[in-house]
Amino acid sequence: MRIGIIGAGRIGAFHAATLAVHDDVASLVVADADPVRARKVAVAHGAAATSVDALFRSRPDAVVIASATAAHPGLVAKAARLGIPAFCETPPALDLAAAVAALAAVAGAGGLLQVGFQRRFDEGYGAARRVLREGGAGRLHTVRMVGSDPAPPPPASVPLSGGLYRDCLIHDFDALRWVTGEEIAEVHALGANVGSAVLLDAGDADTAAAVLTLDSGVLATATATRYHAAGYDVRMELAGTQDQFAVGLGSRTPLTPLEAEAQPRRAPWPGSLDRFAAAYRAELAAFLRVVQGAQPNPCEGREGLRAMLVAEACEISLRERRPVRVDEVALTAGVREVLA
Ligand SMILES: NC(=O)c1ccc[n+]([C@@H]2O[C@H](COP(=O)([O-])OP(=O)(O)OC[C@H]3O[C@@H](n4cnc5c(N)ncnc54)[C@H](O)[C@@H]3O)[C@@H](O)[C@H]2O)c1
Repeated sequence: MRIGIIGAGRIGAFHAATLAVHDDVASLVVADADPVRARKVAVAHGAAATSVDALFRSRPDAVVIASATAAHPGLVAKAARLGIPAFCETPPALDLAAAVAALAAVAGAGGLLQVGFQRRFDEGYGAARRVLREGGAGRLHTVRMVGSDPAPPPPASVPLSGGLYRDCLIHDFDALRWVTGEEIAEVHALGANVGSAVLLDAGDADTAAAVLTLDSGVLATATATRYHAAGYDVRMELAGTQDQFAVGLGSRTPLTPLEAEAQPRRAPWPGSLDRFAAAYRAELAAFLRVVQGAQPNPCEGREGLRAMLVAEACEISLRERRPVRVDEVALTAGVREVLA
């Protein structure tokens, strides 16, 4: 297959490396709003570089959209209109209306869209989902999630990220839905600023804590921070009446036990590209199989929208200092039609 990559930044370069050595990829073409970036990634992986328009005109067999978030909905809609299957990085858009418009375009064209929630392909999250389905925890009552980035994004990227809830915690919301098989009914979200004024000035919290109530009444907490120099730390703990399980707790977890029996530790994870390297590769391998009709889509567009609704509810909760039902956000025009 001939695959196009749109967006040759940090994650676009990583995806290019994955696709360049995949047996089902005969050739790769890379485009970016910045032609210098496109060329650099193309040269590194034996690919061709072109403009975004020329890439679409050349009608590749599929595209991987890894541009800045604001461009996702337009690129997703364009791929759908041209009948080109698309994989799109998260989050699907900066705002709900744009996400809805893009998904409506995909639905209208009968297009194929896979969303990049790579934790669905991580060994630990997969095991957590299985253990719950097999009843291993007994009756689940509490889920605790942690998401810590070593440092904030570069100042220029801060206004482009969509904020901590849409940019980072959206992965926790998807993982929570996917692992438990439940919807998130209500959120109560808080935010704080402990670091650079750049985030505060952009109206973004750099540290967050939310309590999420699932449909069955299970309680979940999610915390996140952009200031965790100890390393990249993404974890999920599942506590039930019979047992308790942890995802992301290992020798590379940047968490120092203070008791004498503590295990020796290895170098902490520096970032998501290392921690989730295998999962990023697996999600693209799955996408190539989906494009060839060899497996069902493991993460359709509506999964991105559902997680985004939770992030939007958190933003409202943070702003208005109150618990927010996710249903309240789902009243936004077009959401129910896209989810139907
Ligand atoms: N799934 C994950 O864990 C994960 C990890 C990292 C990034 N991401 C997402 O991937 C996307 C890219 O993140 P990044 O860290 O690589 O950012 P980045 O800033 O390193 O790269 C973004 C690239 O997009 C290009 N770009 C911007 N607008 C464009 C347009 N209209 N057409 C083509 N190219 C355009 C920029 O020139 C830049 O090269 C973001 O949406 C981010 O949220 C997801």
